[in-house]
Amino acid sequence: MCFLSVKNITKRFGALTVLDNIELEVADGEFLTLLGPSGCGKSTLLGIIAGLERSSGGVIAIDGQAVNDVLARDRDVAMIFQSYALYPNMSVRKNIMFGLKMRGVPRRERDAAAVRVAEMLRITHLLDRKPHQLSGGQRQRVAMGRALVRNPKLFLFDEPLSNLDAQLRAEMRVEIKRLHQKVGTTVVYVTHDQVEAMTMSTRIAVMDSGHIVQLGTPGEIYDRPNSLFVAKFVGSPAMNFLPGALVEDDHGLVLDIGRPGSRPDCSVALGRIGRRELSGRQVVVGVRPEAIYLAADETREGECVLRRPVDVIEPTGADTLAIFNVAGSEVTARLGPGLNLAVGDARNFVLEPTSFHIFDQQTQLRLDIGRERRSESQFTQFAGCELGQQRPGREDKVLLLQAENLTDRRSMQAEDRCDFRGLWKRVAANLAGRHRSHSRGLCRSLMRV
Ligand SMILES: Nc1ncnc2c1ncn2[C@@H]1O[C@H](COP(=O)(O)OP(=O)(O)OP(=O)(O)O)[C@@H](O)[C@H]1O
Ligand SMILES: [Mg+2]
Repeated sequence: MCFLSVKNITKRFGALTVLDNIELEVADGEFLTLLGPSGCGKSTLLGIIAGLERSSGGVIAIDGQAVNDVLARDRDVAMIFQSYALYPNMSVRKNIMFGLKMRGVPRRERDAAAVRVAEMLRITHLLDRKPHQLSGGQRQRVAMGRALVRNPKLFLFDEPLSNLDAQLRAEMRVEIKRLHQKVGTTVVYVTHDQVEAMTMSTRIAVMDSGHIVQLGTPGEIYDRPNSLFVAKFVGSPAMNFLPGALVEDDHGLVLDIGRPGSRPDCSVALGRIGRRELSGRQVVVGVRPEAIYLAADETREGECVLRRPVDVIEPTGADTLAIFNVAGSEVTARLGPGLNLAVGDARNFVLEPTSFHIFDQQTQLRLDIGRERRSESQFTQFAGCELGQQRPGREDKVLLLQAENLTDRRSMQAEDRCDFRGLWKRVAANLAGRHRSHSRGLCRSLMRV
């Protein structure tokens, strides 16, 4: 069942559109993270869900009820911010109980609730301290206790950990995850830290300039980023990117990695699995650092082996990061610990082709190199259009990304809990209605995604 539903939410400040037609459905008990760079609209969306901001259009429904006209305090939603303003003159116990007191909850019940929540957050020994006697992490826990004690329908977190140092942040991540596992309340969590998003969420919505550009489980977002934007944003160390081109030979499609116009640094036969119609495309090849390893010999059938001197070595303890250069781009390989490697050593680096992520250089979208996953009729049926020649514009791309998310097989499995199919139909209706003039081109692009 969809617990929180965000339908066509738009927010404008004068001429500036900061949220553009946001669609999101969050299942009961989910931990959904809004992930994106500064200014992409995360806090604005969270504020609209909380009732602290009014949207310019669209509907927010919580537990099946439209709440657009319900005041923030009546939405039964608890919001936890980056700056957790505790009352300085009150003890931790009183800080936690304050909200209940305001609601007229009897003293005994308040006391019992504070003790229960403090146990859960492991701050029982701090109940009689004042906020200035606490560390940053302890204060953050008290702020969570204050929200938790109300037993709200929905938790909204807005970058709650960004004021903490790295070690505390890691501890609090575990704490919040443990808490969610225990209480099972639906959470919408905002962050620009991809590690937080990857480690805590059941699903992540990646945002860019007021749009959700990919929605999926952390595994889906990591393994199958649907655009260069998402690929660049998720992963640490970040994915490596190399210039490339798709060409055709007698045996099928070939991926050449190297600068355009110069001899390829390596070529990988994609053979019969490659879609020949992609021949001629300039692409960007994404390779995660862990998909690169060392080999003793330089020639390996079907693999991309590059003999290169090591420019920089970064031992991290658990791994050794080796940085080398390919086609003018810096490439990081994540190798095992304790390697006998020196700067300037020439080594054979194997880039594992099965884990390549290939993006169209022009549209910046992921290319499915393998055979068509979806039938033509699936798209034409929904979008009600036929094939054509036109290139998609920016707005089309966003819709394409939404369509891609919604039709991704792995996302479809989540439809038990959320009605993705309904959402997909709305996107399709959008395509048909708003893009009648160039729906032919759009359909063609849909076929390619
Ligand atoms: N009151 C306002 N008037 C005009 N523009 C605003 C207003 N509030 C926010 N914005 C703009 O809306 C956009 C989204 O802001 P928002 O605070 O939602 O971003 P964010 O994703 O939370 O960023 P951050 O990670 O920096 O907190 C920004 O470009 C911001 O400048
Ligand atoms: Mg913000």
